[in-house]
Amino acid sequence: MATEKYYLGVPKVAIIGAGISGIAAAKQLSGYNPVVFEATDSIGGVWRHCSFHSTKLQTPRCDYEFSDYPWPERDNSSFPSHFEILDYLHAYARHFDVLKCVKFNSKVVEIRFIGDQEILDHIDRKPGHYGSLLAGQPVWEVAVQTNQSEILQWYAFEFLVVCIGKYGDIPKMPVYPHHKGPEAFHGKVLHSIDYSKLDKEATHQLLKGKKVVVIGYKKSAIDLAVECAEANQGPDGQPCTMVIRTLHWTVPSYWVWGLPFFLFYSTRSSQFLHERPNQHLFRAVLCLLLSPMRRAVSKFIESYLTWKLPLVKYGLKPDHPFEEDYASCQMAILPENFFWEANQGRILFKRTSKWWFWSGGIELEDSIKLEADVVVLATGYDGKKKLKALLPEPFRSLIEGSSGIMPLYRGTIHPLIPHMAFVGYVESVSNLHSAELRCKWLARLIDDQFKLPSVEKMLQQTTQEMEVMKRTTRFYKRHCISTFSINHSDEICEEMGS
Ligand SMILES: Cc1cc2nc3c(=O)[nH]c(=O)nc-3n(C[C@H](O)[C@H](O)[C@H](O)COP(=O)(O)OP(=O)(O)OC[C@H]3O[C@@H](n4cnc5c(N)ncnc54)[C@H](O)[C@@H]3O)c2cc1C
Ligand SMILES: NC(=O)c1ccc[n+]([C@@H]2O[C@H](COP(=O)([O-])OP(=O)(O)OC[C@H]3O[C@@H](n4cnc5c(N)ncnc54)[C@H](OP(=O)(O)O)[C@@H]3O)[C@@H](O)[C@H]2O)c1
Repeated sequence: MATEKYYLGVPKVAIIGAGISGIAAAKQLSGYNPVVFEATDSIGGVWRHCSFHSTKLQTPRCDYEFSDYPWPERDNSSFPSHFEILDYLHAYARHFDVLKCVKFNSKVVEIRFIGDQEILDHIDRKPGHYGSLLAGQPVWEVAVQTNQSEILQWYAFEFLVVCIGKYGDIPKMPVYPHHKGPEAFHGKVLHSIDYSKLDKEATHQLLKGKKVVVIGYKKSAIDLAVECAEANQGPDGQPCTMVIRTLHWTVPSYWVWGLPFFLFYSTRSSQFLHERPNQHLFRAVLCLLLSPMRRAVSKFIESYLTWKLPLVKYGLKPDHPFEEDYASCQMAILPENFFWEANQGRILFKRTSKWWFWSGGIELEDSIKLEADVVVLATGYDGKKKLKALLPEPFRSLIEGSSGIMPLYRGTIHPLIPHMAFVGYVESVSNLHSAELRCKWLARLIDDQFKLPSVEKMLQQTTQEMEVMKRTTRFYKRHCISTFSINHSDEICEEMGS
C-alpha cells in the first residue's frame, strides 16, 4: 500500500473508535481538540453494528445515561431499543458538538511507537514513574485507511485513547477437530455478527421453516433463539436448538421476591459485604466473617429464579452460585417470551462440552447428531485479537497479564504502555457510566491536576484487582468490577479531587 505522512502540530490527541467510549472521551477531552478515527460511517459502535432487531439495553435508561445529558424520558422504566440508544447518543454528540472531531470511514490499521527509545529498552524493568500523558512531541504514529483506499495516511500524536471496544468486529470462532469444521456441513453457518448485519426480512427468511442450531447460552444466543422461535410460528415452524457448553443464571426482570434487584449488589451496604482491592486487614477478616451473608444473598436470588423459571424442567439450573455470574459481568436478562417459546416446543436445549459438524448438522460428544439447515455461532467476540492487531511489539505482548486480563490502572492506564489510555475495557452493570467516569478522570490527568502513582504501585493495584476477581468468580475472563464498583468509583473520584 502507498503511504502519505501528516505531522500536524495540532491536534495532539487521537481517539480510536466512536462508540459510547470514544464519544465520551471526545466530549471530556474536547479542550484538546482531539481527532476521533472511526472505521465505519457512523457513531454508536455495537449499538449500530452488532445489534439484532430485538436488541435492547439490559437495564432501564437511567442506568445508561451520561451524567450531564438526561434521557428524554428518563423515568420510563422500559428498556430502550438499540435504535433509541443510538438516537440518545447522537443527540448527546450533537449537543456537545463532538461530531466535528470524528473522521468517519477512517480505520486505524497500524500504530507505531516513535517516542523515546529508552522506554523500549527498559520496558520490562518497570521504571519508577509513568510520566505525563502529553510528551511535548509526537510519540505514536497511526496509519489510517480512509474509505478502504489503497493509500494509508500516517498521522503523529502525543497521546492515544484506544476505544475500539471489546465486542463486535472480530468474532470468537470455535476450534474443531480435523475435517469436522463448517466445511463438513452442507447447510449454512454464520456468526451472530453476520446475523446482525441482515435486515428484518432477511433474518425471517433465513430462519423460517428451517432447523436452526444456535451455539451458546448467553445474551446473543438467547435473543437469537427467541427471534428464531418467532420466525417459526405456525404449522410449518421448526424448533431451534440451543447447544449449551456452560450453564449460567439468567434473570427475567430486576425484581426478586418483590424486592428491587439493585438492593442486592448496587448499594453501599450490599457492596460492603464484598471483597475489594486494597482493603486493610480488618476489612479482609470482616469479609471472611460476612461470607455466609453473601452466600445467603446469592441463595435468595437463586431460590427466586428456580421458582420463577422452569430451570429444573429443562436441566438449565447452574451448579455455581448466582453471585459468580454477577461478579463476572455475564448476567443476561431473558426476553419475556423465552420460556413461553420453550414451553411451545419452539426452543430446545442440548448440553455438551464438545461438538463438531457433520454433513447434516451438529454432532455432540455423546454421539447424538442434531440435524440442521442453519447453524448460528453466538460464540462471542475476540476483543483481544482486535487490540493485538493494532498495537506494535513490545506493547502487544503486555496487553494480556498473567491472569489473561489487561492490567489497567483505574481501568484506563496500562502502567507499562506510555502515552496511551484505554476506555471501554472495564465492565460493570452500566458500561456507559464506567466509560464516562474514566474519561473524566483521564481529562484531569492530562490537565496535570493530579499525578499517577509509581508504575510499581499501579501494577500492584491492578494485580490485587485481578486477585479479588479471581477469588470471587471462576468466570473471571472479563475485567469486571460489578461487586466493588462503588468503591472503584469512590477511589477514582478521590484521586481526581471530586
Ligand atoms: C449486542 C450488545 C449489547 C450490549 N448491551 C449492553 C447493555 O445492555 N448494557 C451495557 O452496559 N453494556 C452492553 N453492551 C456492552 C457494550 O459493548 C458497551 O455498553 C458499550 O456500548 C461499548 O462501547 P465502546 O465504545 O467501548 O465499544 P464499541 O461499541 O465496540 O465501539 C467501538 C468503535 O470503535 C470502532 N473501531 C474499532 N476498531 C477500529 C479501528 N481500528 N479504527 C477505527 N475505529 C475502530 C468501531 O467501528 C466502533 O464504532 C452490549 C454489547 C453488545 C455487543
Ligand atoms: N443488551 C443486549 O441485549 C445484549 C445482546 C447481546 C449481547 N450483549 C452483550 O454483548 C457481549 C457479548 O455477548 P455474546 O452473547 O455475544 O457473547 P458471550 O457473552 O461471550 O457468550 C458466548 C457464548 O458462546 C458460548 N461458546 C463460545 N465458544 C463456544 C464453543 N466453542 N462451543 C460451545 N459454546 C461456545 C459460550 O459458552 P461458555 O460460557 O462455555 O464460554 C457462551 O455461552 C456481552 O457483554 C453481552 O452482555 C448484550
